[in-house]
Amino acid sequence: MTRIMLASVCLFWALVPSSLATAGERAGEREGKGGGGPVTTIYRDVAIIGGGAAGSYSAVRLREDFGVSVVVIEKDSKLGGHVNTWVDPATGRGFDAGVQNWIEINNASAFFARFGVAVQPNVRSVLDQHFIDFETGARLSNYTPPSAIDRSTALRKYLEVAEQFLPILQPGWWNFPPPSQIPADLLLPFRDFVVKYKLAAGIPQIFATTGFGKHNFMDALTLFVMRSFDVSMVRTLLGLDANFVPVSRKNQDLYDAILTSLGPDGLTSSTVVDAHRSAGNGGVELEVYNWATGGTTRVVAKKLLITVAPTEENLEPFHLHRDEKSVFDGLHYSTSVVGIVSHPSLPANASLVNIPATAQPDNWVAAVPSYPYNTRFENYPNSTYYRVIAVGDEAFDKDQAKNMIQGTFDRMVVAGTLQQTAPPQNLSFHLFESHGPVSASASREGVETGIIQKLNDLQGKRSTWYTGAAWSVHLTTSLWGFTDSVLPRVVASL
Ligand SMILES: Cc1cc2nc3c(=O)[nH]c(=O)nc-3n(C[C@H](O)[C@H](O)[C@H](O)COP(=O)(O)OP(=O)(O)OC[C@H]3O[C@@H](n4cnc5c(N)ncnc54)[C@H](O)[C@@H]3O)c2cc1C
Ligand SMILES: *[C@@H]1O[C@H](CO)[C@@H](O)[C@H](O)[C@H]1NC(C)=O
Ligand SMILES: *[C@@H]1O[C@H](CO)[C@@H](O)[C@H](O)[C@H]1NC(C)=O
Ligand SMILES: *[C@@H]1O[C@H](CO)[C@@H](O)[C@H](O)[C@H]1NC(C)=O
Ligand SMILES: *[C@@H]1O[C@H](CO)[C@@H](O)[C@H](O)[C@H]1NC(C)=O
Repeated sequence: MTRIMLASVCLFWALVPSSLATAGERAGEREGKGGGGPVTTIYRDVAIIGGGAAGSYSAVRLREDFGVSVVVIEKDSKLGGHVNTWVDPATGRGFDAGVQNWIEINNASAFFARFGVAVQPNVRSVLDQHFIDFETGARLSNYTPPSAIDRSTALRKYLEVAEQFLPILQPGWWNFPPPSQIPADLLLPFRDFVVKYKLAAGIPQIFATTGFGKHNFMDALTLFVMRSFDVSMVRTLLGLDANFVPVSRKNQDLYDAILTSLGPDGLTSSTVVDAHRSAGNGGVELEVYNWATGGTTRVVAKKLLITVAPTEENLEPFHLHRDEKSVFDGLHYSTSVVGIVSHPSLPANASLVNIPATAQPDNWVAAVPSYPYNTRFENYPNSTYYRVIAVGDEAFDKDQAKNMIQGTFDRMVVAGTLQQTAPPQNLSFHLFESHGPVSASASREGVETGIIQKLNDLQGKRSTWYTGAAWSVHLTTSLWGFTDSVLPRVVASL
């Protein structure tokens, strides 16, 4: 049914002339056609695709701080993307499965304050760590994690090296050097970078905090590891930067408040099914379908701001030109799936951490499982719930993730690490969400043939601008900093 609907909409767009001057007339022409709900036409300065971290933030700042009219088109029924807050129906307590906390950079807590979301310093809870090889389910009998001193020595070294590259890496890669001048360290596979700077004692923590989001973390180019594990993250782990959480312990609160404030400028449960972008600076027209109401909105906008991952699937309705497509084809992704599970056999106050047996006794560079993997079962303090994170390559999906997590549990039972209940039960899944394509990266060859420059060059072409994690450090408040560097350019182009 979806397919048929898309096909008929595409046919309609094939008839649209390229001049956008008579958008109003054509909206009239649209009425009564293409069997479905009512069609409304709206006019905006900027149409924002995706209402996650980057899209919601862009909408607020453009509307309120730059006085620019916007509409946000978000496929989910709520804003917030990777946040994934689950509220226990029995107690009303919130559990965040995606974003855990927010680093206090780029004036981040003030952004919460303007929506009346109270925040407090994040206090990391201490859990009993159980080191288990999830491939076999067996507890590691001879594994020693790095000492706190060795770990912080390694992180300090990483920080010292990473800080040298800040001017070319943040807030975005606007000033990234041409291929012949890229610092050699940034092109090393992370594994080699770790050897060069003796960072092994930092690996378990780097992996546990941000590295898990990259399925091939140790083999990724250091350049892209620094987009996951950035300077602000290292500084936070070393206690040099603060991080915070909402007092409510529901990260979703921020985005719910943003959606309320956007009112009719937030189109949720909606996707662009077809688009026309003018060749020059003439703006865009979008056909937006609301999957909940069946209604269609035609959006006529001066500029498009794409915040979703620039994958083929996401950008298909925008009819990419060959030059655009060839750049985006050079990006590769990981898939990250988060969940909240429970089972009476999981130990309280514990984190069951997936560490390959080959990391014993202290071979920390091997403490990273091969993909796809479930990183851990991590108990939320004072609850019977556990956070799970499954990561694989681009093709990895939710069903595979669920089977893998259950399989991990089953192997721990078989190996005698956990005791099954009688009668046996499977894990209960309370929340299970795919984050879709994350951690965009390119091959060394791609970087050496200028993919970063080519990505930058797409900014503003065909009335289309970009932000979102594929363009920036992934951590939300760093991404907001990058977005702050994009928005004035968008506004100047209006
Ligand atoms: C497991 C995990 C834990 C994390 N923890 C933290 C943390 O503790 N702190 C932190 O700062 N950062 C954290 N991050 C990183 C941060 O959440 C992301 O980098 C950030 O959310 C990226 O923002 P974004 O706007 O690019 O994408 P998203 O937040 O994913 O937003 C994209 C939005 O677009 C929507 N969408 C997708 N496709 C379409 C489409 N075709 N049409 C319309 N809408 C669409 C999605 O539904 C989504 O709402 C974490 C990430 C992961 C994966
Ligand atoms: C921080 O953000 C608040 C509200 O979002 C704003 O009023 C204030 O001017 C900002 N401060 C700086 C230094 O940018
Ligand atoms: C949880 O485990 C940590 C680490 O072993 C320990 O310090 C703490 O006291 C435990 N808390 C409870 C409530 O058992
Ligand atoms: C867990 O319970 C203990 C004891 O009641 C309390 O001190 C602690 O603050 C609680 N932690 C959380 C995260 O709720
Ligand atoms: C657990 O799930 C598997 C796969 O869905 C199913 O075959 C099995 O019967 C379930 N076991 C129990 C005890 O529910």
